[in-house]
Amino acid sequence: MKSICVIGIGYVGLPTAAMFASKGHRVVGYDLNEKAVNALNKGEIIIEEPGLGDLVKDVVAKGFLTAQTTCPDDCDVYIIAVPTPINPDKTADMRFVESATRAVVPCVRKGCIVILESTSPPRTVEDLMLPILKETGLEIGEELLVAHSPERILPGRVIEELRTNSRIVGGINEKSSLAVKEVYQSIVEGEIHITTSTTAEMCKLMENTFRDVNIALANELAKMSEELGVNAWEVIRLANCHPRVNILNPGPGVGGHCIALDPWFLVEKSKNAKLIHQARLNNDSMPEFVRDKIEKIIGGLNGKSVAIYGVTYKPNIDDVRESPVMHLVDLLKNAGVNVNICDPHAAEKIEGKGIYEAAEGCDILVLGVNHDEFKNVDFAKLTAKMSAKNILDTRNFWSKADVEASGAKYYLLGDGNK
Ligand SMILES: NC(=O)c1ccc[n+]([C@@H]2O[C@H](COP(=O)([O-])OP(=O)(O)OC[C@H]3O[C@@H](n4cnc5c(N)ncnc54)[C@H](O)[C@@H]3O)[C@@H](O)[C@H]2O)c1
Repeated sequence: MKSICVIGIGYVGLPTAAMFASKGHRVVGYDLNEKAVNALNKGEIIIEEPGLGDLVKDVVAKGFLTAQTTCPDDCDVYIIAVPTPINPDKTADMRFVESATRAVVPCVRKGCIVILESTSPPRTVEDLMLPILKETGLEIGEELLVAHSPERILPGRVIEELRTNSRIVGGINEKSSLAVKEVYQSIVEGEIHITTSTTAEMCKLMENTFRDVNIALANELAKMSEELGVNAWEVIRLANCHPRVNILNPGPGVGGHCIALDPWFLVEKSKNAKLIHQARLNNDSMPEFVRDKIEKIIGGLNGKSVAIYGVTYKPNIDDVRESPVMHLVDLLKNAGVNVNICDPHAAEKIEGKGIYEAAEGCDILVLGVNHDEFKNVDFAKLTAKMSAKNILDTRNFWSKADVEASGAKYYLLGDGNK
């Protein structure tokens, strides 16, 4: 059994650490965030993810998982799962990967393995990490094995997907790839594919870029549909009956730590990433498009009241990072709108109101995220105390008939038939 250090015990690192610990590895979570470290040592978690709390509680109680604010020097494997955000100019902020790599240097010895899990621009392992790791004095690829193995988990299904997803392992040489494959074999039931580190970096970025470009196409369709008097959702439903077509859904934009950011890493590194760049711009324009639609429906913005239901970047999670709906909230506030937020999942992060209170006195209720809690709402009760009974559904989540039976008016993003 190898001892494993996971650097960065956040959304990716913590479940990974807990999974390895559940297989009997001694795992140390190293994080600069004392709150995360202290919580973990008590067997508690500070993020929302189904099944993670119980798993962590169990492995901490059994002594397989501990956490600390310094990098341990007695582990066999060092997995880096720190953030890779973007700078305001849309270039990658690699300071966390750089400092985590530097932290590893005094801790590793002959035979150790360093794995980068963070999503990173192409050539990060080769151009950023290897020059730092050479400072160990170890022969890279022989005495110190290095690979990139991108994480592809879906928030909300992390525990299941860590186990069942296939995995890409991109070593700096074959020896590294094989050693890292063996590490993951203790937790991964899916296939583990071996390639080079730069190919692995490109794969992860292209997976998310594929989805971003597809969503940009759907959003462009939604905009064209409103212009041309067509219902984009019906177009997608019918077009997707074609056996080789799969258009994704339009919405108020693309958010989260992955799909909304990763394509920029390609734009930064290659002047040929033109379609990818345009797709990003299309998706980033959606909050403005929704704001303008709200303005049209309620006849202005300044002094109006808008209720936003759901502000996380996707349903049934608590993560508001890069959330396009939070951007919409800011746009509305900047236009002089009084905004009420209702989000049962983000309640700890964003101050909000209850489902049947948030719409009180509002001119419109906007469904931003289709959380399960909003599924079976009582529309009559929901809209009873609204100043004007308007509902804008940006997700095609609610039934027009149900909304209209309550006496409210139903608007759908991308429905040009209105
Ligand atoms: N969240 C996801 O669903 C997801 C999915 C796939 C890939 N990724 C990628 O995984 C990486 C990590 O993302 P995340 O969502 O887990 O981030 P996160 O912010 O939830 O967690 C990162 C943790 O790293 C810690 N940290 C930062 N710098 C450190 C350092 N130098 N030493 C020790 N700890 C440090 C932070 O305190 C934080 O607790 C990113 O590259 C992200 O793009 C995320």
